[in-house]
Amino acid sequence: MTKPLEGRRIAVAGAGGGLGPAVCQALVDAGAWVAAADRSKDHAAPVSEIAHVTHGVDLLTEEGAQGWAQELGEVDGVLHLVGGWRGGDTVEAMDLADLDLLEGLLFHTLVHTTRAFAPLLKAAGTNGRFATVSSNVVARPTAGNAAYAATKAAAEAWTLTLAAELAETGGTANVAVVNAIVTPQMRAENPDKAYKTFTDTDEIAAGLVYLCSDAARKVNGQRLHLHG
Ligand SMILES: NC(=O)c1ccc[n+]([C@@H]2O[C@H](COP(=O)([O-])OP(=O)(O)OC[C@H]3O[C@@H](n4cnc5c(N)ncnc54)[C@H](OP(=O)(O)O)[C@@H]3O)[C@@H](O)[C@H]2O)c1
Repeated sequence: MTKPLEGRRIAVAGAGGGLGPAVCQALVDAGAWVAAADRSKDHAAPVSEIAHVTHGVDLLTEEGAQGWAQELGEVDGVLHLVGGWRGGDTVEAMDLADLDLLEGLLFHTLVHTTRAFAPLLKAAGTNGRFATVSSNVVARPTAGNAAYAATKAAAEAWTLTLAAELAETGGTANVAVVNAIVTPQMRAENPDKAYKTFTDTDEIAAGLVYLCSDAARKVNGQRLHLHG
């Protein structure tokens, strides 16, 4: 039986983090050729045995993202997984350096990635897919999370704008939404914890594989809620 992503070339940005290994594995299992990048080759080590190729790319720089896209040449899908969190303080007490940091990690890396890959995704026609993972705090901000919620909101708005542009060529861009991610390692370290409001990495990975597949051809500009 043909696998759902057979023959598709998918780039995964921020692949060496908590979610990346499950996503890369699910893509490979679905038949995709996977190019994984993290801020350095060492950071990409968790997926070096899973992805077909790994790159060290600093996505805080536009040149880094452009160089990676040029190196890959042809790409059907891009998954942006670069993350980070700062918070806990009120709007008046928070350190504005944290806002700068999150703006870089959560928004600028996504801006640079999409700007570099948009021409390739448009050239991929109906196979062209982009997706990122966001947080439910965008819709329901919680105290102490202003910088995180605001920068994730910017990333969502940018992604949904890209969706409108990709609609012209039959591609899609979507946002998967979770409260928090639980990794296999977290479960192993804390076997008695229920992680009730968390989403497991393989469940998010399955959602992202779906968004890259033909089955999601008509799913564009959506927030796919994966938090139960
Ligand atoms: N974890 C959660 O509970 C949660 C909740 C809601 C949404 N999300 C979102 O889900 C996605 C995946 O989460 P995650 O926990 O796997 O994220 P993560 O581990 O924080 O970040 C993913 C990877 O991106 C790398 N990265 C950081 N800066 C980079 C740069 N300049 N260029 C290239 N790569 C860079 C990180 O390296 P470093 O380790 O060196 O930083 C890390 O290996 C993220 O978009 C996150 O915002 C996560």
